[in-house]
Amino acid sequence: MLNFDFHNPTHIVFGKDRIADIAKLVPASAKVLILVGGASAEKTGTLAEVRQALGARQHSTFAGIEPNPSYDTALQAVARIRAEGFDFLLAVGGGSVIDATKFIAAAALFEGDAWDILLQRGRNIGQALPFGAVLTLPATGSEMNNGGVITRRDIGAKLPFRSAKVFPLFSVLDPTKTYTLPPQQLANGVVDAFVHTVEQYLTYPVNAPVQDRFAEGLLQTLVEIGPRLLAAPTPVYDDRASLMWAATLALNGLIGAGVPQDWATHMVGHELTALHNIDHARTLAIVLPAMLEERRVQKRDKLLQYGERVWGIHTGTDDERITAAIAQTRDFFERMGIATRLSAYGLGADAIDTVVQQLQDHGMTQLSEHGDITPAISRRILKAAL
Ligand code: NZQ
Ligand code: ZN
Repeated sequence: MLNFDFHNPTHIVFGKDRIADIAKLVPASAKVLILVGGASAEKTGTLAEVRQALGARQHSTFAGIEPNPSYDTALQAVARIRAEGFDFLLAVGGGSVIDATKFIAAAALFEGDAWDILLQRGRNIGQALPFGAVLTLPATGSEMNNGGVITRRDIGAKLPFRSAKVFPLFSVLDPTKTYTLPPQQLANGVVDAFVHTVEQYLTYPVNAPVQDRFAEGLLQTLVEIGPRLLAAPTPVYDDRASLMWAATLALNGLIGAGVPQDWATHMVGHELTALHNIDHARTLAIVLPAMLEERRVQKRDKLLQYGERVWGIHTGTDDERITAAIAQTRDFFERMGIATRLSAYGLGADAIDTVVQQLQDHGMTQLSEHGDITPAISRRILKAAL
């Protein structure tokens, strides 16, 4: 096992009817800005519940944070916070709203050009406003981690940042809040959580059986509940709860502590979203099978372990077992209703050059747990994903 620090200060408030707990979690004197995405928080009644929980506190709402939140919209929120003196933020939504809130919390107190936060990937964040979250879409893990991703649409850049200053103070995880999700967002959540786990598990062995088995438990749970979540005629509380907790644990630092991490699939996927507006999870479903195929040698031991423990593949030569494990992965995404080929999203070989150029422009030239995925290798992976 590798050396590590593990510190996660986010208070998780899990279960039915827990939004009322916000009354105890937000300081009584706070002046609160609630941040939401499009119409969903209002339509589902979640926003009304949040407002009620805030009681007599001064509060207002900032609406309009887009999926793959934009830098420009975040700056509008920053301007309002500065003009009106809000001192506590409350994100109500999915990963996009929570990510934007993290960036806004940091940018509101940042001296200088906020774009530098993204250029420095968050290393220059010195302080941030305190904030909490109410999660409505289990997928990203943003509710219990210190990272976010912001998009600048004018230059087609989608850049990650992280800082110990942007952990949510608390996150309310009420599984019933997922009941209004359309099937494609539910599927996105399952696949995003699955790939987060894979990025931290499917690398090379470092004698970390605890992390391995946590990761395998998450993967097995997602494989078990994923198709059931889609097939259920009405939402089943326990499956929604399992998805919510699995997605949080998949990216809250626990399974990644003390092990190598990959993230190449995510970095290539971010460029596909920035250029072609494909949902985040769908980009991962496109890239991962091709990535695993390309990395058969480097990931050999873990691919065999993954095949055996997650998919029950016990027979065949090593190569046959690896092929079967990759095929099962692709099939799982497809069964979740998520296409795994670029062509299914209307993209052909002519789209690849720009993606590779963007990776280069964004410094994504040494990807993976070994830092050896060059732009030329990313190009091969994208070709294999056509
Ligand atoms: O905008 P509204 O109207 O709220 O609708 C949203 C949005 O259209 C809708 N939605 C959310 N909760 C709902 C609901 N609709 C009905 N009922 C509900 N309860 O779902 C749509 C998608 O929401 P979004 O927040 O964009 O999805 P997700 O949670 O998948 O977040 C994706 C973003 O997170 C980033 C991605 O790159 C992407 O920008 N990620 C953040 C990470 C992190 N912070 O650690 C890691 C991830 O790898 C990922 O990169
Ligand atoms: Zn992700």
